[in-house]
Amino acid sequence: MPNITWTNALSVGDDAIDHDHQELFSLVNDLADADLSDSFLLGLIGRLENYTEYHFAREEEFMREYDFPGLEDHIAKHKMFVEWLHTVELTYRRSAESPFQISDLVNDFLRTWLVDHIMNEDMKYRDFIIEYMRNKKK
Ligand SMILES: [Fe+2]
Repeated sequence: MPNITWTNALSVGDDAIDHDHQELFSLVNDLADADLSDSFLLGLIGRLENYTEYHFAREEEFMREYDFPGLEDHIAKHKMFVEWLHTVELTYRRSAESPFQISDLVNDFLRTWLVDHIMNEDMKYRDFIIEYMRNKKK
């Protein structure tokens, strides 16, 4: 599976958030490359859970700062992702006898979700903030 690569086209205009997104890309790429038989996989899922929690909180704070009107909707999308990831983890843990493998489907979902979310959802607050700054200068 080819790695996902962060490019400037994915920049939301905030260095800290862009950096978080790059970290997430690298975690997702590591997960796709992970040895499926290794408990390393669970560690990676854990790191992904921790990092998304940390990153979503930062992003939500950022949107709150600018009174972004789509905040609630955006938070709901983050929550759905957190729940989905948690389900993947539980499924993996519960199937110790017949090891559940992080299938291509899960990896695909992660990669698609992350890129889609940045392109379609995160860009909404980027555009809103650009407009906000423009009006402020007037
Ligand atoms: Fe987001």
